[in-house]
Amino acid sequence: MIRLRNLHKSYAMGASKLHVLKGIDLEVGRGELVSVMGASGSGKSTLMNILGLLDRFDEGEYRLDGEDMSELSETRAAQLRSRHIGFVFQSFHLIPFKNAVENVALPLFYQGVPRRERNRRAAEILDKVGLADRAVHLPRELSGGQQQRVAIARSLVTSPKMLLADEPTGALDSGTSYEIMKVLQRVQGDGVSVIIITHEHDIAGMTDRIIHLVDGRVDWDRSNLRREPAGHEESEVAAAAAGS
Ligand SMILES: Nc1ncnc2c1ncn2[C@@H]1O[C@H](COP(=O)(O)OP(=O)(O)OP(=O)(O)O)[C@@H](O)[C@H]1O
Ligand SMILES: [Mg+2]
Repeated sequence: MIRLRNLHKSYAMGASKLHVLKGIDLEVGRGELVSVMGASGSGKSTLMNILGLLDRFDEGEYRLDGEDMSELSETRAAQLRSRHIGFVFQSFHLIPFKNAVENVALPLFYQGVPRRERNRRAAEILDKVGLADRAVHLPRELSGGQQQRVAIARSLVTSPKMLLADEPTGALDSGTSYEIMKVLQRVQGDGVSVIIITHEHDIAGMTDRIIHLVDGRVDWDRSNLRREPAGHEESEVAAAAAGS
């Protein structure tokens, strides 16, 4: 799905340059759930923005589904972003005067999908994130966790191949964060590659693989045995019981 080779990125800082990504090598397969950790300023969001084709890189290779991203036209980048990539951020970026189902349907509006079909698909995805009963609520009538689930539903309504989430639980308490992670695990189960930036070990612990960045480089990259964070062991037991 994603293949990076020796990827470099610098930002111009007046006359000098700030070298942020210093040779990133990374592969992420279809349907993987991966977390990216690292100190503030280590380059996590920069990497995410490049993966999401929101920003350009200077050197190295980025292949998305085999396609070379180095000499991409703005039109093709916009097309790939709207068709194949979903974004979720720490702040939910919902439109305040539109209700949940309208917010979720918005990307389909931009794709020219007819209204009935838009609303049908939006309602279906809202149901998937457990918000069928909140469809006509405005963002301000929803809790933070519910708003984030609306944002996730919106990012999924176009059936992307990859979901990029930059600190999706950064503004949420631990119980709500746990619920969001459960939703993202379900998304992964549908074959979407999910990449999450997080500072929280409990959140990273719920992914299959953790990538640690230090100063613009991959410090380590290991697979992780998914575990439920402290306080949620009961549900783990329940899940195991349900599975057996
Ligand atoms: N648009 C920009 N122009 C100039 N410098 C930038 C820009 N975006 C990021 N930087 C710098 O690049 C470095 C890496 O930033 P980045 O946002 O990728 O870090 P991060 O790992 O996401 O940090 P945090 O955990 O605080 O979100 C920082 O030193 C930052 O100041
Ligand atoms: Mg960041």
